[in-house]
Amino acid sequence: MSDIILKACNLKKYYEVNQGLFSSGDLVKAVDDVSLEVRRGETFAIVGESGCGKSTLGRLLMQLLVPTEGEVEFEGKALSKHSDKDLSTLRKEVQFVFQDPFSSLNPRMTVRKLISEPLEIHRKDLSSKQRDDKVKQLLEQVGLRVEHANRYPHEFSGGQRQRIGIARALASGPKLIIGDEPVSALDVSVQAQVVNLLDDLRDEFELTLIIIAHDLSIIRQMSDRVAVMYLGKIVEMGPVDEVFSNPRHPYTLALLSAVPEPVVGQEKTLISLLGETPSPTASIPGCRFNNRCQFARNICRKTQPEISVAEAHEKHIVACHFWQDVAQSASENTMNTSRTRNEKLEARFKLYQAALKGEKAVPKLLGAIEQEELT
Ligand SMILES: Nc1ncnc2c1ncn2[C@@H]1O[C@H](COP(=O)(O)OP(=O)(O)O)[C@@H](O)[C@H]1O
Ligand SMILES: [Mg+2]
Repeated sequence: MSDIILKACNLKKYYEVNQGLFSSGDLVKAVDDVSLEVRRGETFAIVGESGCGKSTLGRLLMQLLVPTEGEVEFEGKALSKHSDKDLSTLRKEVQFVFQDPFSSLNPRMTVRKLISEPLEIHRKDLSSKQRDDKVKQLLEQVGLRVEHANRYPHEFSGGQRQRIGIARALASGPKLIIGDEPVSALDVSVQAQVVNLLDDLRDEFELTLIIIAHDLSIIRQMSDRVAVMYLGKIVEMGPVDEVFSNPRHPYTLALLSAVPEPVVGQEKTLISLLGETPSPTASIPGCRFNNRCQFARNICRKTQPEISVAEAHEKHIVACHFWQDVAQSASENTMNTSRTRNEKLEARFKLYQAALKGEKAVPKLLGAIEQEELT
């Protein structure tokens, strides 16, 4: 079996902007020429500011959206070449966990019905008794109780609802789960619980995970590799440790520098992002990041940088004309701080875990903690 479970080649998704009934002629390049490979068994993270195209990319990878151009291969086979039967296998093998556990579960269905629905579709081999047993087993595997099966989604907290969403995604026996900001809508202490759960389930079910997130400490905690997106493009990609210790793209460096120190009163940022993200329809010659970049020179305003391999790290790639300058600045920057970037992110996640245990100092820093009692 190939080591690569999912592959995207030059994926594009463009939307025409409508003004009333007519097209304005403007295009939103939500995803613009993205290529990536996801390895079997890994957790692959996609990170970037809101509106950079993460959700669109996630939906393209799952064939929930048809690309304007480009191709996705799942287990070596191009999705566009799939027959209807293949597509129904794909629906079984690739599942989605949504951001908002409040709107993604049908409020009129009991938990039993919500979890048995995918079993009815994808596991026709099961008798109704076997299906019921499977629902109970799944509930326990995601940390809920068997008696929860008869309740409705509104009777649960956010974290518990996300557990129901995860049980539903697991029901068909998928090989790959794509989570679109699966913990962003949850309170920090509950985020740590759900992150731990996803980590455990990945090992237990031998899953591959693609996690879309904007919280770098969550990505640091759960992922093996990371792709950083800016306005529809991947600007940097590589192993998480490597990318976070040695960022080569000015945007990654800025994102990392914007992570607050996990200490009260020291939440200063080292480098702030200049300006706002440009309008998604703006046509920007050259590098899309040039108007916000402290390293930009003339060539950046004219020529789009190609993806290149960062020296000595063949699996670490970057799209920047001056990545060597960024690397230099990043290492100087680290020397001026007491902690490395990875340590800072780890310390931040430790705070989430402390919040999980209900330690007193933490709520002061991180805001009110939602207590998740299993009643
Ligand atoms: N159906 C659509 N029609 C038009 N524009 C869209 C559509 N879906 C997404 N977009 C635009 O594409 C860009 C990327 O959106 P999205 O993938 O949701 O970003 P993210 O998930 O990173 O916040 C945004 O500018 C968004 O407004
Ligand atoms: Mg999104």
